[in-house]
Amino acid sequence: MAQLANFIRQTRHLPTPLLVIDPGKVGENICRVQQALPQAKVFYALKCNTNRAVIEAVRQANAGFEIASLSEAELLVQLGVPAEQIVCLHPIKAAHFLRFLHRHRINVLAADSLAELDKLAEHAPGSRVVLRVSVSNAGSVVLLTGKFGVEPNEVVSLFQQARLRELIPHGLTIHVGSQCERVATWVEALAVCRELFREAERNGFEMKLLSLGGGLPAPYANSSITLEEIGAAIQSELRRMELSPDCAVSIEPGRSVVANAGTLIATVVGLAERASGRWAYLDAGVYHGLFEACEAGGGIPFSISVEHPDRPSHIYNIGGPTCDSFDMPFQQRSLPELRVGDRLAIHAVGAYSTELSSTFNGFPVPVVYSSEEVSL
Ligand SMILES: Cc1ncc(COP(=O)(O)O)c(C=O)c1O
Repeated sequence: MAQLANFIRQTRHLPTPLLVIDPGKVGENICRVQQALPQAKVFYALKCNTNRAVIEAVRQANAGFEIASLSEAELLVQLGVPAEQIVCLHPIKAAHFLRFLHRHRINVLAADSLAELDKLAEHAPGSRVVLRVSVSNAGSVVLLTGKFGVEPNEVVSLFQQARLRELIPHGLTIHVGSQCERVATWVEALAVCRELFREAERNGFEMKLLSLGGGLPAPYANSSITLEEIGAAIQSELRRMELSPDCAVSIEPGRSVVANAGTLIATVVGLAERASGRWAYLDAGVYHGLFEACEAGGGIPFSISVEHPDRPSHIYNIGGPTCDSFDMPFQQRSLPELRVGDRLAIHAVGAYSTELSSTFNGFPVPVVYSSEEVSL
């Protein structure tokens, strides 16, 4: 708790909202994933948080990057990240993005449709194709089913189509949904991959990559499982798969790498007592770093610490600064009494926070600092 109070005290001179990133935590989290799954190469999903201190910590931990867009690719190339440390497992890519990837020899690319194979063949010829297979997202906080993924019974024919286009069938990728806390979902997804690897190999395709995707859970206050427990279950399924020695395994975690490395500091800018209860309004809300606190974003119950924990507690609804009624990150939270000008620290907000922020209503997005910059 003392360290949490530090966050507020040591950033008191800076305007809010702000996000403090602890790069040491990023390194520790990658190390935890590497220990939980020693046979998998880690590619950090950059979309989660593109802050330079995060990128540096990922590089120092010898992990690679999973990217989804041209600007992410440009950033990494500009920073000198080698092509073999970059994969693009987003199954839908614009033509100009594919041309950039091809030019820079970033050639492990996902697809999940015939139309995407056509684009790959035209704009990134000879690429290594990793098919994204549709798997259950049961037990995940943010679901990705429906939008992406080829049905298992279409995998072999898509590999055949890839080969006809002179692309290289390379492997499979899955995504069990973000913050997946149900071990059985991982196990079932790997059982699907096991069958598909056998079928692909029976049909003459050599599988060189099994990509486990994102989904590893971050340790939020209400988390029911650790990534070590999931790692143990994945390892036992990998043993059952009996992968050939030249088939690599990768994992592309985002949230579990960076969530608990980020702390958002916000200021109370307004208070009200209404028929609906006691309200406190902050200068950061759903559009300013707290998208995932609202129901549409997954309703993650981020923990909050306050500047004056000794005051009597009340039940608060917490509103963001904008005029939008959707901008209510927290409801019915018990907190020590808040006064205008007080600062709050909201914890484990390093993932999908500032990357999803906007200046809606003219309110500024949180400025991101590394903990070294604010001497924490
Ligand atoms: C292709 C891909 N890989 C990895 C990730 C990271 O997922 P997570 O943050 O759940 O680890 C995502 C996130 O959407 C993704 O789309």
